[in-house]
Amino acid sequence: AENMLWGGRFTQGLDPLMVQYNESLPYDRVFWKQDIAGSIAFARANTKNGILTANEFAEIERGFQQISEEWRTNTFVAKPNDEDIHTANERRLGEIIGKEIGGKLHTGRSRNEQVATDMRLWLRDELRAIDSCLCDLIKVSVSRAEQEIDYLMPGYTHLQKAQPVRWSHWLLSHATAFASELQRLREVIRRVNRSPLGTGALAGNPFQIDREAMAKELGFDGLLYNSMNAVADRDFAMETMQWGSSFMLKISRWAEDLIIYSSLEFGFVRLSDAYSTGSSLMPQKKNADSLELLRGKSGRAFGQMAGLMMTIKGLPTTYNKDLQESVEPMLDHVKTVSDSIQIATGVLSTLIVIPEKMTAALAPEMLATEIADYLVRKGVPFREGHHISGRVVALAEQTGVPMDTLSLDQLKNVDARFGDDVQACLDYERAVELKDAVGGTSKRAVIEQTSVLKGLL
Ligand code: ARG
Repeated sequence: AENMLWGGRFTQGLDPLMVQYNESLPYDRVFWKQDIAGSIAFARANTKNGILTANEFAEIERGFQQISEEWRTNTFVAKPNDEDIHTANERRLGEIIGKEIGGKLHTGRSRNEQVATDMRLWLRDELRAIDSCLCDLIKVSVSRAEQEIDYLMPGYTHLQKAQPVRWSHWLLSHATAFASELQRLREVIRRVNRSPLGTGALAGNPFQIDREAMAKELGFDGLLYNSMNAVADRDFAMETMQWGSSFMLKISRWAEDLIIYSSLEFGFVRLSDAYSTGSSLMPQKKNADSLELLRGKSGRAFGQMAGLMMTIKGLPTTYNKDLQESVEPMLDHVKTVSDSIQIATGVLSTLIVIPEKMTAALAPEMLATEIADYLVRKGVPFREGHHISGRVVALAEQTGVPMDTLSLDQLKNVDARFGDDVQACLDYERAVELKDAVGGTSKRAVIEQTSVLKGLL
């Protein structure tokens, strides 16, 4: 333990399993770039306030240039005592520029502020990349909706045929949910991108460090204003995972729809080979594995979110080593969400749509509401119209004649107010076009939705 960064007061070595148990370098090495950028900003600020000379700063910067090069080319050699990325980089700096100057870097600084800085910087960049992937998913949804606007399909409630809708309307129903997630994501990024650097271990920095300048150099949008909060806080990881869980929930429902629609029984869509796999036993099978994984990985994402909340909930302020346990779930969560968005985009952009199957699945009963609405237009109160239409459905069922081919006499028998203009309303296209108020499934209303979504991107 004497060789550790903090070895001064320790006399006995660590249990070897404890070394492993404690170390985070195997995963927090992904922060090497952020850690170095943070160190350079910190050294620069400590030059302005006289802790370091210009020469010392130049040496530190030179050292970090070499270390960056080593990470970049995968030639950085970790040593057994490199607990985490902060320790590893600082140890290496001392080797390159000498302990005399290297040993001054950490003046007034704590790994508690460092790890929070690294995580936030990394997360900010990842979330920005996710923002752009999510825009792509929405774009693909919108452009399919525009191209395939003429396809009608059954709309479902309770997974029972309800009313005819445009296939585009289905596409946009999910795209609209994704767009809400995009807006939430942008809110989250604003809060992630705030700087804890210069808050010390918990109490603040004693050398008048210019926190604003460091934040600016690192591209943060602002500061965290309480040093104890700055090192204790993992809201950025938690909120990211709450966001990610919310997004995965949306994509999971989207995937579930497509799993159903791609089944042989529905056959509305077919997955491209690039996103399906076969069965090792049943030669005929083509399984929607991509969609099932989207649904399945949502469970893992929710678990990571709940896990972190449990890790944090009982912690005394401020930094506790428990917080190190926020890193791995965050890394995996972000990768899971990012991969999922890209897979979903791939699935959707290569999806084969079979409009004939959608049309074939439309059933006359789905026009029962149209009959009620027809009667409403004749002055019948809706509740009564609903009842009459129900009797028409029952008649069709009893006689085995599809509802849209019942004769006018048969209809008049149910209610005398039916006229020969009733035939016209037994039409899917017309039913769809009548839903023309904002947000409906008429062509005009669907096109309007596409422009609303495009406006958000
Ligand atoms: N690697 C640690 C983490 O991920 C930061 C180290 C802080 N350690 C400490 N003993 N204060 O949280």
